[in-house]
Amino acid sequence: MAKAELPRRLLTCLLVMFPLMGTAVADDERKALTLDPAERAVLLEQMRILLEGLQQILRGLGDEDMNVVAQAARPLGVPLKEKIPAATMQKMPEEFQRLANSLHTDFQRIALDAETMKDERHAAGQLSAVMAKCLACHKAYRVNAD
Ligand code: HEC
Repeated sequence: MAKAELPRRLLTCLLVMFPLMGTAVADDERKALTLDPAERAVLLEQMRILLEGLQQILRGLGDEDMNVVAQAARPLGVPLKEKIPAATMQKMPEEFQRLANSLHTDFQRIALDAETMKDERHAAGQLSAVMAKCLACHKAYRVNAD
């Protein structure tokens, strides 16, 4: 891409995003999950752990240190799979459970491949695929306020 093209692309991007941001709340079609306050707190805490883990994985990629990538990825499958009580999980729609479970498998795979293949490009591709699942779930569900 020519250097001069970047600012133009960013501007186009902003112009496209701006009206979308304005309508996000009004057009919220996400399905509300009914959780009690404690369950909700656990879910959101696990989410923040996921976000923090992604940041650590990216730091590892940036430093070309695949050990950091592996160490950051390994525990990340666990939050959604095991730290959210089974009783809470059972309340969730099937699709939610499917996405949560597949996140677990994906992060295990990222950790394993980081150790054995030590290939940043491969890991970046895996990261993009797993983030598509973050997006898919966020697009479909929200939790009730309390
Ligand atoms: C199986 C479904 C699901 C998956 C997969 C998922 N999330 Fe979430 N996440 C949710 C729900 C539901 C909420 C609550 C959204 C709301 O009520 O607006 C949430 C909220 C969050 C929040 C806000 C936490 C807070 O304290 O308010 C963050 C950050 C987050 N998710 C990060 C991630 C990241 C990063 C990934 C992927 C690595 C991910 N999530 C994958 C369902 C999911």
